[in-house]
Amino acid sequence: MAELYKISFPGSKFVPITSECHQSLSEHLTIQNSPVLFGCRTGICGTCLVEVIGDIPPPQPEEQEMLETLAANHPHARLACQLDITDNIEIRRLEGEFG
Ligand code: FES
Repeated sequence: MAELYKISFPGSKFVPITSECHQSLSEHLTIQNSPVLFGCRTGICGTCLVEVIGDIPPPQPEEQEMLETLAANHPHARLACQLDITDNIEIRRLEGEFG
């Protein structure tokens, strides 16, 4: 049976959801169940920029390049649409990045 991981959203009103290993977050998270908004879902628009705490694989070079442009001072910044879920994670809004 596939392993399930918990995706939680501390500091928001949204309840944690579960995801199978390696599932795409952008298919799971909607405006109803998460504070994360998506645009392109392919890692180029930056709409889904969030802070992520958890033991998941590091960004690929393309994502890393975007993160350096969008959130150079945030070591935990990630593009939610590019995450590979291999652990329980916490997703928070990046301080100051949202209006
Ligand atoms: S939705 Fe565009 S970068 Fe993630």
